[in-house]
Amino acid sequence: MFGLFKKIPVDIDDKAYSASKKSTLLRVCLSNGINIQHKCQSGICKKCAVVEHTSQGDITVLACQRIILPTQTNRFSTIK
Ligand code: FES
Repeated sequence: MFGLFKKIPVDIDDKAYSASKKSTLLRVCLSNGINIQHKCQSGICKKCAVVEHTSQGDITVLACQRIILPTQTNRFSTIK
């Protein structure tokens, strides 16, 4: 039961945050005062692009489309 409400650790620009399961990375950024460009929030404008650091290398993802899941490393860097 408690597992349903457990927060998921998220690392953004080497700072630790937590997210509710299935929230988007963009929502986590905005709710924590991280300034990230965004416009459409539907994957079209590409303004919310960030770098995700995975075990297989860095990839570019859209923060508005990236769902935070407990099974992933959830390490990101904003693009300045
Ligand atoms: S806000 Fe437009 S693609 Fe993410």
